[in-house]
Amino acid sequence: MKKYTELSQYKEINQILEELQKDEHVQEMKKYIQHGDVSTYEHCESVARLSLKINKALSLHADQRTLLTGAMLHDFYLYDWHYDGDGSHHLHGFSHPKRACRNAQKFFDVDADVSHVISSHMWPLTLTSIPLSREAWIVCLADKWISLHETLFRRQKAQR
Ligand SMILES: [Fe+2]
Ligand SMILES: [Fe+2]
Repeated sequence: MKKYTELSQYKEINQILEELQKDEHVQEMKKYIQHGDVSTYEHCESVARLSLKINKALSLHADQRTLLTGAMLHDFYLYDWHYDGDGSHHLHGFSHPKRACRNAQKFFDVDADVSHVISSHMWPLTLTSIPLSREAWIVCLADKWISLHETLFRRQKAQR
């Protein structure tokens, strides 16, 4: 019975991720660098994987769809933050959760729970956007750990 439950959970996880990952706008995240030599797409995938591990290891019983969708779209802002561009993404660190949230609502019609995961993931930098759900806390923590790891160990080849 346990094996059957694990298998059906595994299938559900893959299905949720596949639905998101086949989308052309999500694919666009492959064009942008997040940290070092890591694309925003790869970064979001790593945060989604770690979020699942945290949820399972600590038996937090987070809602799997909210957790995975929030994690996969948490940096769905769709531009290269290393360049100012047209000036619309000034103060990227503070503003990108809102932009990612708007894109997620526009392209996936995400609900309030997923929107909250995305908009609060940069806390405490975004002081007033505090994670208030277990899914939001998990993604907020997973993002910090993955970002630190990418910044320290995945530097661009030219910088080595
Ligand atoms: Fe972010
Ligand atoms: Fe992130």
